[in-house]
Amino acid sequence: MTDSGGVQDKLSSLLSEALSEITSADDANVLQLLKSKYAGRKGLIASLLKELPGLAPDNRGAVGEAINNAKEAIEAALESRSAALAADRAKASLAKERLDVTLPGRFIQPGRLHPITQVMNEVEDIFLGLGFDIAEGPQVELDRYNFASLNIPKNHPARDMQDTFYFSDDLLLRTHTSPVQIRVMESVKPPIRAIAPGAVFRRDSDITHTPMFHQLEGFMVDTNISFANLKSVLMDFLRQLFGEVGIRIRPSFFPFVEPGAEVDITCVICSGNGCRVCKETGWLEILGCGMIHPNVFKAVNYDPEEYTGFAFGLGIERIAMLKYGIDDIRLFYENDLRFLRQF
Ligand code: PHE
Repeated sequence: MTDSGGVQDKLSSLLSEALSEITSADDANVLQLLKSKYAGRKGLIASLLKELPGLAPDNRGAVGEAINNAKEAIEAALESRSAALAADRAKASLAKERLDVTLPGRFIQPGRLHPITQVMNEVEDIFLGLGFDIAEGPQVELDRYNFASLNIPKNHPARDMQDTFYFSDDLLLRTHTSPVQIRVMESVKPPIRAIAPGAVFRRDSDITHTPMFHQLEGFMVDTNISFANLKSVLMDFLRQLFGEVGIRIRPSFFPFVEPGAEVDITCVICSGNGCRVCKETGWLEILGCGMIHPNVFKAVNYDPEEYTGFAFGLGIERIAMLKYGIDDIRLFYENDLRFLRQF
């Protein structure tokens, strides 16, 4: 017969030990272990209950009740300790995540379009408004497109090694956007109304030249295109871009047009009075143009008796310089943010 006093003693020391371990437990895992150590199916309370059958029948009720009370006390202590730990954790993470809404925000530097891109977009939009389509060609170009089909004979100075970057005898970096005329005319029949924007390359570098710059080619081909059409498209374009400026058309020479011309506008810097930028002439040269040469039509198998057309080419950097009063083209490609942020 087990002595009921002995079980009671064991119970009370187990209870006080359990309560003290539980109150000093400082994390959830430890609590979990304590729970199975004391209140689990194979825990110490369970093993005390196993001693009940060995007690005198009269004592079993009281001892059994004491054991159950102890178990409930242990479970209650586990629960309240676990709640207290959870509250501590919540408090700690709130403290850590505390947000000081009075701190100044982080400054985000906004990006923007490069001034050349902005001017290119503006020029493209004007021609899109006039019904032109956008065409593209490769920057690494064949001699045939860049020169031969454009009526530029083998000994023409534009082919000089000083101007053109060559990869080989017949492969080069295009020196203008005019080869796109040939590529478009080879692939479609008139009527054609197209512009070809893009980068071009020449071996040249000073305050008005960079080895890479941008041009926009424009051309229109159909059965009855005249110089008057060229003039009206260009006047419309230049007035949209520069406002009410004077426009002057001068005869000039390009092998792929006949007749050829250059277009000047009144100097936007001095309003035509004469200054350093217009070299005291009051005029600024703004683009080259002309009626497409019959030899160019022959090169793309168009009948020059049937079709006529005009073409023009303008430098985007030059337009940007005039529009913004910039006197050194190299500023566009130095990536100095103090310069770029102004646009
Ligand atoms: N391709 C010429 C240049 O780069 C410009 C031009 C284009 C002139 C079309 C006439 C007609 O200078």
